[in-house]
Amino acid sequence: MHNDTERVLLTEQEIAARVRQLGEEISRDYAGKEPLVVGILKGAVIFMADLVRCLSIPVRMDFMAVSSYGASSQSSGVVRILKDLEHNIGGMDVLLVEDIVDTGLTLNYLRENLLTRGPASLKICTLLDKPGRRRVNVPVDYNGFIIPDEFVVGYGLDYNGRYRHLRDIMILKREVYTAKEDNENCPADDGS
Ligand code: IMP
Repeated sequence: MHNDTERVLLTEQEIAARVRQLGEEISRDYAGKEPLVVGILKGAVIFMADLVRCLSIPVRMDFMAVSSYGASSQSSGVVRILKDLEHNIGGMDVLLVEDIVDTGLTLNYLRENLLTRGPASLKICTLLDKPGRRRVNVPVDYNGFIIPDEFVVGYGLDYNGRYRHLRDIMILKREVYTAKEDNENCPADDGS
C-alpha cells in the first residue's frame, strides 16, 4: 500500500468484476448499435480502457478534457472545456464515461453542453458515485460503486496529478491534502 493512503476502499479484483458487469449491461442495452464512448480526461482513462474491452458491441471512442475547479478544492460549477470532441455527435448514441460524480456540477455541465449538439441519445456511466456531496441532480445510467464522502485515489483518480497509476482505489490520508491546502489552497489537478 502507498504511504500516503489510509486504506484500500476497492481492490483491483472488485473493480474488475464490477467493470465486467457494467460491460455486459451496456452491451445488452446498446445491442444493434455502435455508440460513441466519450471519456473525460484524465481521470476516466483507465476505467474507460477496461470498460470498452468488456463490451461485446462495436464502439468508437473520443475524449474531452475539462477543468472544473480552478484553484480551489470546492467545485465552483464553472467548467472550462480544455479539449473538445473530434466527432460531430449529431445523431449519434453517446455514452459519457466519467471517473466519479461528486457535486455533479461537472457532469451536469457536460450533459447540457452535449445535448445541445443533438445526439440520438446520451447516457452517463461513472465508476464511482459520492451521493453525500451532490449539489445538482444529474441522471447517472450506469454506476460502478457508491462510496462514502472520502477523497479517493488510484485507478485513474488523482490528487494533484499523482496516484493515478495505483491499481486499487484507496482513501487518501487527510493530512496529505489538508497540509497542502493550508499552504497553497490548491488541491485539485484541474485536468479532471
Ligand atoms: P464534481 O463536479 O464535483 O462532480 O466533480 C467531479 C470531478 O472531481 C471528478 O471528475 C474528479 O476529477 C474530481 N473528484 C471528485 N472527488 C474526487 C475524489 O475523491 N478523488 C479524486 N478526484 C475527485
